[in-house]
Amino acid sequence: MAVSAVESIAWTGDRLTVLDQRRVPDETVFLELRTIDGVIEAIASLAVRGANVLGSAGAFGYVLGVRAGLLPEDAAARVIAARPTAVNLRVAVQLAHAAQLRGEDPLDVALALLAEDRDACATIGQLGRQELAGASRLLTHCNTGALATTGRGTALGIVYAKAEAGEPVEVVATETRPLRQGARLTVWELQEAGIPVTLIVDAAAAAALTAGQVDAVVVGADRIAANGDTANKIGTLALAIAAKHAGIPFYVAATWNAIDPSTPDGAAIPIELRGAAEVIGTGDGAPAGDTAVWNPAFDVTPASLITGIVTERGVLHAPFGPAIAGLAR
Ligand code: MRU
Repeated sequence: MAVSAVESIAWTGDRLTVLDQRRVPDETVFLELRTIDGVIEAIASLAVRGANVLGSAGAFGYVLGVRAGLLPEDAAARVIAARPTAVNLRVAVQLAHAAQLRGEDPLDVALALLAEDRDACATIGQLGRQELAGASRLLTHCNTGALATTGRGTALGIVYAKAEAGEPVEVVATETRPLRQGARLTVWELQEAGIPVTLIVDAAAAAALTAGQVDAVVVGADRIAANGDTANKIGTLALAIAAKHAGIPFYVAATWNAIDPSTPDGAAIPIELRGAAEVIGTGDGAPAGDTAVWNPAFDVTPASLITGIVTERGVLHAPFGPAIAGLAR
């Protein structure tokens, strides 16, 4: 099966063109971003989302900022602050900024990141396919596919690699409240690719895992600390706990730039808190607008609950600290 990737982000001469992920799957609308503010707004509003695409978009946002005459330090700081948890954003902007300081064109860095991410995803797909050779029923969370990367994805990259190799694969996709990236994006991507997918509400995941409906859980990452503790979309921790209880392997798939050696453990990972409106919603049945809400966008899964971390440099196993240090460059 040939699986083509959706192009979620592209640089076209003087602007960044991104698919507005808030409107998928209902509409295919591309945003033309010509300013650093436009890129920051797209990142903060989740028009552009997913750790890997955040990195690429951030680097282009930085380029637009310095081209418009902003102080390079200010441009970098402003883009990095757009979303705090995915370290890919910081890494990509800092790479572009370092090129600028060396007198090189940061656009070259941003363009190179697109290609590197695509290649890294392809390698993760193959390594994950081998690691998960015996697992055909995969549960995943949020969206880690072609929309979230410039390739075919991290966790979903493994699914696509299996499908392309002609191996049996089917996906249980969690809805991923409150913004429903699983229901809107992952389900759409997999249906477009002709891969069987079953949608469940987040609260049904523990039941699916304990009922024997799943061979392995595979999720992405927004930041992996030096000891392997992993921040990912809110709800990931509950999946890891349920998988442990059910005796099901729990894998993280991420490109190497999601690993942050400067963050010692999960407690040091900044967790983005988002607004109440995402949870309260609108229309019939919505609670009062002043209802108290806690809306963390991510949670941290301790390394002790993780079976393996699939990266383009290899599959890491416990103890993750030495495994990460051993492959660091
Ligand atoms: O808030 P989002 O939609 O940007 O969160 C995305 C995730 O949590 C993904 O799992 C993660 O960024 C990895 S995407 C390859």
